[in-house]
Amino acid sequence: MTAPSPASSVATGPPPQGAPEAGAAPEKSPAVGPPLWLLLELTYRCPLHCVFCYNPTDMPRTGAELGTAEWLRVLREARAAGAVQLGLSGGEPLVREDLEELVREAHGLGFYINLITSGVGLTEARIATLKAAGLDHIQLSFQDSTRQMNDFLSSTRTFELKSQVAGLIRAHGYPMVLNVVLHRLNIDHVGEILRMAERMGAQYVELANTQYYGWAWLNRAQLLPTREQLQRAEAVTQAFRERVGARMKIYFVVPDYFETRPKACMNGLGSVFLAVAPDGTAMPCHAARMLPGLNLPSVRTASIRNIWYDSPAFNRFRGEGWMKEPCRSCPERGRDFGGCRCQAYLLTGDPDNADPVCELSPHHGQVVAAVAASAAAAAATGGGTERPLIFRDHRVSIDITAGPAGGGA
Ligand code: SF4
Ligand code: FES
Repeated sequence: MTAPSPASSVATGPPPQGAPEAGAAPEKSPAVGPPLWLLLELTYRCPLHCVFCYNPTDMPRTGAELGTAEWLRVLREARAAGAVQLGLSGGEPLVREDLEELVREAHGLGFYINLITSGVGLTEARIATLKAAGLDHIQLSFQDSTRQMNDFLSSTRTFELKSQVAGLIRAHGYPMVLNVVLHRLNIDHVGEILRMAERMGAQYVELANTQYYGWAWLNRAQLLPTREQLQRAEAVTQAFRERVGARMKIYFVVPDYFETRPKACMNGLGSVFLAVAPDGTAMPCHAARMLPGLNLPSVRTASIRNIWYDSPAFNRFRGEGWMKEPCRSCPERGRDFGGCRCQAYLLTGDPDNADPVCELSPHHGQVVAAVAASAAAAAATGGGTERPLIFRDHRVSIDITAGPAGGGA
């Protein structure tokens, strides 16, 4: 599944009808605002096998999926706690047969609802029912502009089907929103990807460079683009923007390995974002399962309000008390909150460290080395990969042990 953009997608999008004012925080813990952005990962089941998926690499070891009544309760509790934006993702949320029921309830509660989907399973009948139930927005993912690469990267034959789904989305009056995850193997096709989006009548295109968690972390050496690729892709995107003007809005999310300051991931953990995994584990970011010692609460045993305001896991990274140097005394700590906790953990083994993307981090050399290794690998293989890619797969999951190098998101 495509990762929600940690820096950009929280608390954005049209306001939901009947939503409370963002400042109308519940009475408890007045210093902490409400969980405005709720992401429900309804299932880890997915017909695709994407190499860049952010889902945990140990999926089979997570608990059973929540049932319909439990998800309905989560929706009600989250809305009562002030949530307004709802993302429905997975895995592939369309494999849940109760999706329409969940959407109907969420709409009645006043959520603005975004379905994040590969399109597999979105038939004419289902899109009509989802529309009638109150679904506001559909974000459709593609892997590439060509059938060959799209189908290779997802290890499925889905290119034609996705193209048909794009037509259905348009026909049912939704804005056409495409998401394409970029990496070394497809970033040189950005021009064709944008032309494909134009042919499909896309109004919004997110070119989201891979975020390296979960399966993408396992494949980082094969997926990280080179700096030259990135610069070319940005130039192509900019020229395309100038040609199409306001007809198409294009977001190009740069891989933060090429930056010198980190993203303000999730706007700070426990600030606005609350994700619930298929087994009911509540997380302050979609990848937080990997963080050591967090003792993540479950919606099976605690209310959303209790989880958000009172659980140690959601309070762990609030404020600045947890920060180490150089963040603790850095004038930029109020802007980026020290970057991404998950990236800090994956790259340094300590989630309290500065995100190594920051050039002030003593671990920044790891990011520089990863970029250099990518350039060397790309040169040695003519833009390909030295090692085989690891495709998201249930059986492969079972063979992968948990931990910083393999446990993933
Ligand atoms: Fe941000 Fe920490 Fe780097 Fe300062 S030292 S810019 S707070 S990551
Ligand atoms: Fe950035 Fe978890 S993904 S904090």
